[in-house]
Parts: sequence; C-alpha cells; structure tokens
Amino acid sequence: MKRDFLRLGDFSSDEHRALFHRARELKAKRRLGEAVRTLEGRSLLLLFEKASTRTRISFEAAIGQLGGNAITLPTADSQIARGETLEDTARVASRYVDAIMFRTHGDDRLRAFARAATVPVINGLSDGGHPVQVLADLFTMAEKLGEVEGKTVAFVGDCASNMALSFCEAAPIFGFDLRLAAPKGYRPPTAALGRARVTSDPEEAVAGADVVITDVFVSMGQEKEAASRMKALAGYQVNEQLLGKAHGNAIVLHCLPAHRGEEITAGVIDGPHSAIFDEAENRLHVQKALLEHLILRR
Ligand code: CP
Ligand code: NVA
Repeated sequence: MKRDFLRLGDFSSDEHRALFHRARELKAKRRLGEAVRTLEGRSLLLLFEKASTRTRISFEAAIGQLGGNAITLPTADSQIARGETLEDTARVASRYVDAIMFRTHGDDRLRAFARAATVPVINGLSDGGHPVQVLADLFTMAEKLGEVEGKTVAFVGDCASNMALSFCEAAPIFGFDLRLAAPKGYRPPTAALGRARVTSDPEEAVAGADVVITDVFVSMGQEKEAASRMKALAGYQVNEQLLGKAHGNAIVLHCLPAHRGEEITAGVIDGPHSAIFDEAENRLHVQKALLEHLILRR
C-alpha cells in the first residue's frame, strides 16, 4: 500500500526519528560533497495551485541531487484549469511518476487527490497545514537546541495559519510545550488546539521561550482580508523588544516569505537569534529523507 504524507500524524514517532536521522546523514554528505543517488530513475511531480519559491526549489533540488527528476506543473497551466477533475489528474500522473507533491487550498482537495493517486502524495502546503515546513522547523530546533522534547515554543501572530495548525499537531507528537499568542478570531479551532495554551498577550507567551516563531499576517488566498488582518494583528509583531523576554539562547523561526516590518522586524530576521535561513536550507535535507522514505519505503 502506498503511503502519503498529508499531515505530521501520518508518520509514527519512530518514523519521524528515522527521518531526522537520515536527514542529518544526507546533510553531512552534502557538506562533504559526497553524491547520494538513491532515487536514480525516479520522478516527482510538483503540482502547484499557489505560488512558491522554497518548496519548488528545494523539492526540485532534492530529487535531482538524489538522481531523479522533477516535473513542476502550476495547475493554472494544466487541464485542471479547463475542468479536468483532480481525481483524473491524480490517476494519470500516478502512471508517470513515483510521488506527487501537491500545494493546494482546501484540505478536502488534498485528500481527494491523495485518494485517487496510486503513488505517495505529499502535502506541500494547504489551508490546514504545512507539514513539510514544520518537519524542517523541528529538525532545525533539534540541531540548534540539542532536542525538541521538553522545549517551549511561542507562536505569535496569526495562530490560525497553516503553520500554526501544523505546530499544534506537532506539539504532542514531538513532546514540546506550545504557547500561542493571538487575538480572538486568529486562533485555531478548539479541536485543533491539542495541548497548546492560548493568550492574547505576546509577552506572556514569549516569556522564557526556547523558540519564537511567527508567520505572515496575510497568507496566500487571504489577500481580500489584508486590511482587517493587518489591523487585528498589529500588536503581535516579533521584534527585538518582544524577543528580549525569551530565553537568552532562544532561536527565531519563520517559514518565509517574511514581510519585514509587519509580522517580524528586519533586525530579528537578520539578528543573532535567527535560525531562519538554516531552517530554509533544512527543507532540502529533510525532504530528501522524506522522498526516500516514501518512494523506497525505507
Ligand atoms: N516556506 C515555504 O513553503 O515557502 P514557499 O511558499 O516559497 O514555497
Ligand atoms: N501561511 C503562509 C505560509 C507560506 C509558506 C501562507 O499560506 O501563505
């Protein structure tokens, strides 16, 4: 049976551990210039219904460096835009490629696509989560802080974003404490909250935290709500003053793209606590491990 990776909970804790172990190996090998060609002759389809920089480049580089090839298709350029069903697209693509990454809007679209596909499907960001990004974030936490378990993570800003939702899912799986700081209307639904604690006060959430993380105030597809979102979230910026409340060795994460001066200041992104560009790099290593795991059934 094929395996999908649509959410973090699709993998067991052992699988997550093995994935990070392999990602560490792959990162070290790349540093040494050692070639790894485990996916020679394999193909990966990248299907995009939304814009992307990191996800596209890191998945294309990942499969290419492992000896395979990527086919990138924005759905706007495909027959989906002219009415072909997602399911027929999934069935046909499964005859050509060994795995498919899909970036879409609603999670219903993602699940319908995955049900029809006969090869592994990876969630490359949906309204309900961004699990490949959060894998890279957790990997970065482990790298910088030694471990993830027992650490305190403060998520500040739009806590109903796909990033925040995946962090809520991750907290019980990876055993870290999650504090959310967001105004009412920008919090996860109770069912998604898990063990996260919510406050309206960013300073309360950040006090002593090991990791401070945020996401854009206006996610893809929310452009019409931009003015009201900016107003509601204005007091939830990750800036130097707020970061001063965190643990002295705290790291700052942001999945990028960032809007400097909105949800985070340029000084924090480029400052000594930022692990943001290592986090972006780690997408490559973690996704290589993920592709091997799904395609080779490691
Ligand atoms: N973080 C992330 O997924 O970036 P892109 O939207 O550029 O792919
Ligand atoms: N929450 C953001 C993440 C971008 C990687 C969005 O969905 O636009």
